[in-house]
Amino acid sequence: MSSKSSVFATVAYTPPDAIFELTKAYIADPDTRKVNLGQGTYRDGEGNPWVLPAVEAAKDAIKNCNHEYLPILGHPPFRQLVTELVFRKESTVISGGRVASCQALSGTGALHVAGMLLRRALGQDRTVYITNPSWSNHRQVFESVGFSVREFHYASRDGIDMESLLQALTEADPSSIFVLHASAHNPTGWDPSPEQWRQIAAIMKERSLFPLFDAAYLGLTSGDYEQDAYAIRYFAGELDLEMGVCISFAKSMGLYGERTGLCAFVSRNHNIANNVESSLAQLVRSEISNPPAFGARVVTAILANDGLSSQWRRDLTTMSSRISGMRKQLCDELTALDTPGDWRKIIQQKGMFCVLGLTPEQVHYLKEKYHIYMAESSRVSIAGLNEGNVRYVAECIHQVVCQPEE
Ligand code: LMR
Repeated sequence: MSSKSSVFATVAYTPPDAIFELTKAYIADPDTRKVNLGQGTYRDGEGNPWVLPAVEAAKDAIKNCNHEYLPILGHPPFRQLVTELVFRKESTVISGGRVASCQALSGTGALHVAGMLLRRALGQDRTVYITNPSWSNHRQVFESVGFSVREFHYASRDGIDMESLLQALTEADPSSIFVLHASAHNPTGWDPSPEQWRQIAAIMKERSLFPLFDAAYLGLTSGDYEQDAYAIRYFAGELDLEMGVCISFAKSMGLYGERTGLCAFVSRNHNIANNVESSLAQLVRSEISNPPAFGARVVTAILANDGLSSQWRRDLTTMSSRISGMRKQLCDELTALDTPGDWRKIIQQKGMFCVLGLTPEQVHYLKEKYHIYMAESSRVSIAGLNEGNVRYVAECIHQVVCQPEE
């Protein structure tokens, strides 16, 4: 190597992540009318970040905690309480000691460690299937651990495309991994009904496919944790399937920056779970040694205390009802303006997001002319709407939809 050549000469420039760039552009925009409908972060009725009252109280409760390392697999009561929360305390997967878990760096970290474990378990010639469209990070998380990733058509503008979903399940090689959004599908907001989940599960069981749930929105989707965990509990409890679940407390407790999550695998029996957990421990140790403590302590303080748990349930309702209220208002405003399009889908979809069905040009125009920021796919984070901006947003959408294409 000559003294002038660089070790990094082959490293190509990677464009920045689109959704984080959008947030950056929004923050830098000095226009007072600006509206951020990009990144999925909850905002209160005034457009500000919201620290949940349950979290505020939990922080107070743990203020005297020490700052020692956690065990490699994470804070033990956190793992236990979160596992019970997700699967139900009485679940046979818990009494049978069949859940292996490790604390993870929020949902993304949980998906990553799940990917590494599955690579180890299944080898690299398995395929990970993701929905099309899906969360923009899914593909690269699984490609980064060496899987090939395939997409299957998931939804049209009117709802889930069950035919193509069931076809993908029927045609996939056995032991393929399917990343399923447990609730609040990101970006479409179309979730399977319980009956559709049962259909999906039956084929997965019959064909020995592996379900990996991305469960980033449990509790926030409907305001009811139990309801949002339906698919996970059905797959694990009633169908007795081996599976993975990736939990995040970013959205459901507003712990965005604390990177607090859990990766859990349900396996055939306790001995297998024990082996899986030992493998998770080695993966975590080699990657981050041991996970961050603060967020896990906050979650534990809430889940271990009846009063704080009840407050958290109320906080979930506060967030989910404000989001559904804003869905309704946006739909009503667009309908009142007689904006061409079927806007009822805004209230039919669930969770934080909704895809408006605008063209990239229209999305660009909304940003440049009206300072309204959304993903290029026209996915909007409904939590960015409030009483003060929803009419403005509807009027601007009306303008771009009605103006002739240039
Ligand atoms: C989103 O989809 O906007 C959020 O999950 C934030 C992220 O990391 O992409």
